[in-house]
Amino acid sequence: PTIYVITPTYARPVQKAELTRLSHTFMLVPKLHWIIVEDATNKTELVANLLKESNINHTHLHALTPDQYKLKKKDGHWKKPRGVQQRNAALDWLRLFRSSDNDKGIVYFADDDNSYSLKLFSEMRRVKRVGVWPVGLVGGLKVEKSLVNAQGKVIGFNSMWAPQRPFPIDMAGFAINLDLINRNENVKFSFDVDRGYQESAILSKVVTSLSQLEPLADNCTKVYVWHTRTIDPTFAYEAVLKKKHMAPSDLGMEV
Ligand code: UGA
Ligand code: MN
Repeated sequence: PTIYVITPTYARPVQKAELTRLSHTFMLVPKLHWIIVEDATNKTELVANLLKESNINHTHLHALTPDQYKLKKKDGHWKKPRGVQQRNAALDWLRLFRSSDNDKGIVYFADDDNSYSLKLFSEMRRVKRVGVWPVGLVGGLKVEKSLVNAQGKVIGFNSMWAPQRPFPIDMAGFAINLDLINRNENVKFSFDVDRGYQESAILSKVVTSLSQLEPLADNCTKVYVWHTRTIDPTFAYEAVLKKKHMAPSDLGMEV
């Protein structure tokens, strides 16, 4: 099967660094199709050029987050759901262009700031319905993971943050077979979901019990993805340059 990796992304100082790191991982993965969706009114040259240079099979889309749901500068980053509009645009694209019977695929939601091991992609290629695996550095723990019994069935989770969620798993911790997405129009994200419930909401539409989850990464004992978060740099000295009527450091350069 092809692995369809869906990545929402938005313009900010660290964007090119994040996407470069991601693309250099994805370049090494066979049969990967990257659906990158910009949270913007237009597709940008920066992203288009990065995709072109990477040589990765890709689809470049844009879908602007509606203004009422857009994070504001003073908001905590958790204040509003992120990536909703963009992931839905990618799911729509998949249903339009990859819904014939011979298109076998696995769908993975890969945020632009996480760190991914190549091993993750070999694991997820085996997903029949929904695969799950541990995620490092998330939810206030070193690792959030599914608990697996001796028969290899998922029987619960170790999550501490909002453990009452039906599926207390980070977005990076599961992948869904494309068949399930093509067969059910309701498999999509919503702004109308409590904080931290995006993953539970979508997983509830594709599995009805824990026993349907397929534990990967050695029965959920290995960490192949990390929920890293990059600090937003401040650039105090750019203001100094400006004050001295000097050019900004990046004049004529893409950083
Ligand atoms: C956590 C989860 O890891 C996300 O998958 C989930 O969407 C999010 O919580 C949530 O509950 O909405 P976190 O690390 O806090 O995520 O979120 P970000 O990494 O800041 O954003 C997730 C994705 O959305 C990233 O790919 C980011 O580039 C994108 N994004 C973020 C936008 O497209 N637009 C924005 O304004 C902000
Ligand atoms: Mn993130």
